[in-house]
Formats: sequence, C-alpha cells, structure tokens
Amino acid sequence: MQLEQKSLNAFLDAVKKLDSGFADLPEFSPLAFDEQKLLEILKATAERLHDNYPYFHPLYAGQMLKPPHPVARLAYALALWINPNNHALDGGRATSAMEKEAVAEIASMFGWNKFLGHLCGGGTIANLEALWVSGQLRPGKKIVASAQAHYTHRRISSVLHLEFEPIAVDSLGRMDLQALSRRVAQGDVGTVVATMGTTATGSVDPLSEILTLREKHGFRVHADAAYGGYFALIDTLAEHAKSAFARIDEVDSIVIDPHKHGLQPYGCGCVLFRDPSVGSLYKHDSPYTYFSSAELHLGEISLECSRPGASAAALWATQKLLPLVKHGEFAQRLERSRSAALALYEKLRADHRFVPAFPPELDIVVFVPRAASLTEMSARSRAIFSSAAERGLHLALAELPAAFFESLDPAVRRDRDTVTCLRSVLMKPEHLDWIDRIWQILVSSADASQTTRTVSRSQP
Ligand SMILES: Cc1ncc(COP(=O)(O)O)c(C=O)c1O
Repeated sequence: MQLEQKSLNAFLDAVKKLDSGFADLPEFSPLAFDEQKLLEILKATAERLHDNYPYFHPLYAGQMLKPPHPVARLAYALALWINPNNHALDGGRATSAMEKEAVAEIASMFGWNKFLGHLCGGGTIANLEALWVSGQLRPGKKIVASAQAHYTHRRISSVLHLEFEPIAVDSLGRMDLQALSRRVAQGDVGTVVATMGTTATGSVDPLSEILTLREKHGFRVHADAAYGGYFALIDTLAEHAKSAFARIDEVDSIVIDPHKHGLQPYGCGCVLFRDPSVGSLYKHDSPYTYFSSAELHLGEISLECSRPGASAAALWATQKLLPLVKHGEFAQRLERSRSAALALYEKLRADHRFVPAFPPELDIVVFVPRAASLTEMSARSRAIFSSAAERGLHLALAELPAAFFESLDPAVRRDRDTVTCLRSVLMKPEHLDWIDRIWQILVSSADASQTTRTVSRSQP
C-alpha cells in the first residue's frame, strides 16, 4: 500500500507537469461528473476484479502472466490524459516518436540498427504481420512451424490463405531438424517459423541449423520470440539456447511481446523486419490522414490503423528505467526467473513423487506426478492442480507428448500418447525467493491428493 501511495504521489506530480504544457490554452470546463457515483462504481469495479487469480503474487506460478512495472502503469495512465493514437503523427506526435525510440532499442537488443518495425496489439497480430509480409514475398508457398509452435500460426496462415504444415518436435520440444530438412527439400516451403521459446515448455528451436538449411533452400525465417525474445540478453542460458539467440540477427523477421516479459500492460506486441524495404508492401492511400508531416507515420508501415500511443509511452518509460542491456537490472530480473525455474526443476528431479520433463531452457517447468500409467498421471496432475489452488498455489496444466518425459520408468503403462502435465511459468523475479514455499505447497498438495485417491479407491 505504501508503494502504491508513493506511485500515486509521483503520478499526480507528473499530471501537473503534463497540464503545464497546455497552460496557455483558453480556459474551458470539461463536463462534470458525479464524484460520489464515480467512487461507488470504481469500488464496484474493484469488487468485480476480485474474481481473478492473483497474477501479481509469487504464488501465482501458472500461466504466462506478469504484472506490468509501476512505471509502465503510470506512464500508460498519464498518456491516457491525452489518449494519443499512434496511427498517424496527427493523432500522436510525441508517442509516435517514443514508439520509434523504444522499438529501436528492442531491435538493437537483437543486433539490428537498420530495420523496420513497430508496436501492435500483441503476439498474434505481430505474427500475422510477419507472415503477411512472408506471404507477399513467397506467394503460394507454405508456412511451416513446429508442432509446439503457438496455435495461432495455423489460424493466421488460414486467414492469409497460406497453407500451413506442422513439423514434428523432438523429445526436448524443439523442431525436429531431420523432419524439417525432409520437408523443405520438397521445395514448396516459403517460410519457416522458428519459435524462440515455446508457449508450453519454453523450448528453443534450433535456429543455427535452420539458418544453414535456408542457405540451400532459400525460404524465409521468421523468429516467433513473443515469449522468449528478451532472453537474448542473458549470457547464462545453456549452450543450445545461447547459440540460437546468438544468431537471431540473421532471421528475416522477429516478433517479441513487451506485454509478456517486457513488463507492459496487455496490448503491446512488436514486429521487426531486417529489411526495411518491406515497408513498400504496406503502401496504401489514406486521403484523410498523414497530412500534418512528411515524416513517417506509423500507420504507413503497419496493418492496424488506430493504436494506443499510451502503450508506446509505457514501453518508452520502462526502457528508460530498465534499459535492455546485458547485465543490467532488467537482464538480472530475467536471470532470477530462470534461476527459479532451474531450482524448481532440481527439486522435482530429486523427489520420488514427481518426474520433470527436460531441464527448462528459459523459465517454464513442466512435470508429472509419478503413477503406474499415463492415464493415472494425468488424473493426478489434475488433482494436484486443484489441491494446490486450494492451498493458494496456482499452477497451470498442459497436455503434452509423453515422449517429453524420457526419464519415466519403462514400467509405466503408456496407455495414451499424451499426458496431462503440471506447468509452471516462473516469470516473476520474485519467484526465486518463493521457491521453497512453492515447493512445500506442491509437496503437501501431492501428498493430500494421493491420500484422497487412496481413500476413495478403497471405499466400496
Ligand atoms: C510463442 C508465442 N507466440 C505467440 C503468442 C501469442 O501472443 P498473444 O497472446 O500476445 O497474441 C504467444 C502467447 O503466449 C506465444 O507464447
């Protein structure tokens, strides 16, 4: 609460500063509102918002959800006083400039100084744009992505009337190189999507080898780094992921989501193209915009029209506070998330009750409770999920190939191809300090769900 009060004080100072920039306008009175009613409705809104998992708390260790940084929240709210629209300079001059600066910093994190890029609604829209460009440059050719790529790639391809094919993954959840190699040899693949951190397990596709295949087959490479992109700043990744991120500057396009690991409110994705000349594909006439300046209006290089300038202000402010540099505070926070994931993985590996899948490449851990068959494991995962939630620990579930659990005892009955796993995205830096507490709750939930099952089985 103290921190909130401090933030609000800082915010009110900033509002005054903002007002001062418009002080010479003639006085006018905006329409009044009923203060009492507003307060009541705000409280009712807060009440409604109780019906959420506590995403901001370290005991929320489930899906890919992370609270925005206070500076992002406040800069966003400040910009809402103006509510700029970054479609055109006419609608958002200052925030368009901030967007260009903030996006250049993201591009520079990937080693690009010359590029074309902008913010957009999120990872799906950013991938849509990247694949739309790919489709124009490789008309009639297919899009391929791993079977663990985000589900929207197939849907996006269908929207774009491009054929999509999944490529098998190996036991580490990465695109299988031999399967890709066979597929691209057929000559009809226009774009390979390399996922730099899959949604389910955080696996990083073998980018180096994909780039080598590109030399022979000439397809485009699009890196979907919506979730994993910021890990490019981390030197301590294991060798495979490190070498993949080391070559990300060689891909044709990159998607990264500031609203995932970039501490931003939702509605902030980013797409980048290595070759700025793809901007010509966006050429369109808009007789009612783009008149105030000959400078680039962001709407001239993006598929969406209206976009919140507030997103750009929030991102700009966050990157001023936490620059995207190796060894900086932002990078150290990411390292903490990864350390939390490694710590949980080690606890799972050493415990007789659980079997983790492969070691986490980024900060997602996936595991199953030990049982006699995959069906029983799946049921127990669900039971632990519920039992942990009752104890205040919120995990996620995922249906994944049983092949991801190579260390499973051979005696376990493989009575299905997939298994329902427990999944934990440890993306808050605070998770590291909470691993012991998370572990205690997990273990007691596993023991409790085991007892419940034994009791219910033995009942007539
Ligand atoms: C790798 C990856 N790509 C794309 C997306 C879609 O992003 P969004 O939910 O922002 O549309 C996600 C979402 O989790 C993702 O993990």
